[in-house]
Amino acid sequence: MNPVTLRCLSVLLLLAVGGPAAAGASLYERLGGQSAMESISATLIDRVVADPVMGRSFKGTKLPRIKQKLAEQLCELTGGPCKYSGDPMPQVHAGHHITEADFYGMVESLHTLLRERGTGLTETNELLRLLAPMKRDVVEGPAKRRAP
Ligand code: HEM
Repeated sequence: MNPVTLRCLSVLLLLAVGGPAAAGASLYERLGGQSAMESISATLIDRVVADPVMGRSFKGTKLPRIKQKLAEQLCELTGGPCKYSGDPMPQVHAGHHITEADFYGMVESLHTLLRERGTGLTETNELLRLLAPMKRDVVEGPAKRRAP
């Protein structure tokens, strides 16, 4: 068999047998798809809200909406079939006096939750790396902070 035919055959075999996984499954798929997005989002929000320090930002907010929008956002970020339909991150978080410690507290909560779910190290790191740049849109900078 000539090398070109052999290469074509192996590509066809890869597509037929491996499907998207062999071609490189999205982080969304590797994390467990839509049900994983919803469960990660709901559990994370419940834990953050139950925390005596981080929870104070959520007084009077609509938790079911936050959970739904966060699941959608995680889905889009990780390459899933969703489009985030919530409000822009800076606008949503402005005025809630969210500190850098709050942000890292949430990241730590997410890290713990992923470990409990048995998420692989690669997937965990990929997800945390996608969320890290959002810090600037969530944490209140000195310019936005109110005078004491
Ligand atoms: C990467 C980190 C974060 C992401 C991706 C994120 C994402 C979101 C999303 C999608 C919403 C709902 C948007 C909407 O209603 O349209 C939301 C709302 C909210 N988030 Fe975050 N968030 C993050 C970090 C934090 C942290 C660290 C806190 C505080 C501890 C926080 C507090 C809140 C609050 C209080 C709301 C409700 C705002 C309102 O309805 O007035 N978030 N967040």
